[in-house]
Amino acid sequence: MSSVLVTGGAGFIGCNFVHFLVSEGHDVAVLDKLTYAGNMKSLEGVKNKINFTKGDIANRSDAEKSMKGCDIVVNFAAETHVDRSIEDPEPFIRTNVFGTYMLLEAARKNNTEKFIHISTDEVYGSSDSGFFKESDPLSPGNPYSATKAAAEHLALSYANTYGIDAVVTRSSNNYGPYQNPEKLIPKMITNAMKNRPLPVYGKGTNIRDWLFVEDNCSAILKVIQNGKSGEVYNIGGGNEKKNTDVVKTILRILQKPETLIHFVPDRPGHDFRYALDIAKIKKLGWKPKHSFEQGLKKTIEWYANNTWFWQ
Ligand SMILES: NC(=O)c1ccc[n+]([C@@H]2O[C@H](COP(=O)([O-])OP(=O)(O)OC[C@H]3O[C@@H](n4cnc5c(N)ncnc54)[C@H](O)[C@@H]3O)[C@@H](O)[C@H]2O)c1
Repeated sequence: MSSVLVTGGAGFIGCNFVHFLVSEGHDVAVLDKLTYAGNMKSLEGVKNKINFTKGDIANRSDAEKSMKGCDIVVNFAAETHVDRSIEDPEPFIRTNVFGTYMLLEAARKNNTEKFIHISTDEVYGSSDSGFFKESDPLSPGNPYSATKAAAEHLALSYANTYGIDAVVTRSSNNYGPYQNPEKLIPKMITNAMKNRPLPVYGKGTNIRDWLFVEDNCSAILKVIQNGKSGEVYNIGGGNEKKNTDVVKTILRILQKPETLIHFVPDRPGHDFRYALDIAKIKKLGWKPKHSFEQGLKKTIEWYANNTWFWQ
C-alpha cells in the first residue's frame, strides 16, 4: 500500500492504527496537535519507523505540509469527549469541522488518492430499538456529535463536488489499549484496580455497542482497500451492553466487589442507545474477531501491564 498520513495518530484509536499499519509494513506519517488527549509515549515502540509532525489540522500550512508525499489520509484527529463538548463546544467546532475542511482542501491541492474520514455512530442520535443503516437520517444529540456530522457531510460533499475519493466510517464505541482514562472502560478498570468508586451515569441503563479497537483498525484497512468513494460504512462490534453490565464484567474479571459501583447524576441530553447495522461492511469481507469478554480481558491485561500510561 502507498504512504499513509494518520491525523490524530497520538490519540487512542489513531495510535492503535499507526501500530497496526507499521506491523503490516506500511509507510506512515502522523500529524497530531498533542492536546491533552494525545500522548507521544503511545508511539514509543514505533517512533523510529514513522514520520511524526506536531501540528494542527485546522492550520492550513500544517495540513498542506504533512500531506506532501502521502497518497492516503486517515483523519482521526478530533476533539472527542462529549462532556467537554457540553462545557465548551468551540474547540470541537474548530478542530472537528474547520480542521476537516482544511484537510480536505489540502487533499484537493495534493491530489490525494484517498481520504478516509473517521466518524461515529453518535451522528445517528439515540434509538430505543432497531439498528441504524448508513442511509438513515442523522440526528446528532450533543455538540460533539453535531460537529462530527458536519465534518462527514463536508467530506462527502468534497467527493461529490470535487471528485475527491472520500469515504466515511462510522464506528461504535471503541475500547482497548491506549485509551484515555477519562473514558468509560479505562476509567472503570483503573478505578477498580485502585479500589476507588466506579462512577456510573444515571441508572447505568444506557446501551452502547462495544468494538475492540484492533477490530476497528482491520475494518478501516478494509475500507481503504475496498471502500467506494462517496460511501459510508458502519463498523460495529455486535456487543450491545448496558453500562452497568460493562462495569460488572470488569469487576468480575478483576475479582472486585460490586459495592464499588457508585451512581452519579446523568449527563444532560445523554443518548440512551446506539446500535449499528454492519451488513454493508461485511460485504467488503470484514467482521469483528473479538467477543466483548475477549477484548475486555486483553484491555484489562494491557492496563495492568502499562501503569505508566495512566498513573
Ligand atoms: N473512541 C471511540 O469510541 C470512537 C468511536 C467512534 C468514532 N471515534 C472517532 O475516532 C477518532 C479518534 O477517536 P479517539 O477516541 O482516538 O480520540 P482521542 O481523543 O483519544 O484522540 C484524538 C487525537 O487527536 C489529536 N488532535 C486533537 N485536535 C487536533 C488538531 N486540531 N490537530 C491535530 N491533532 C489533533 C489529539 O492530540 C489526539 O491525539 C475521532 O475522530 C472520533 O470522533 C471514536
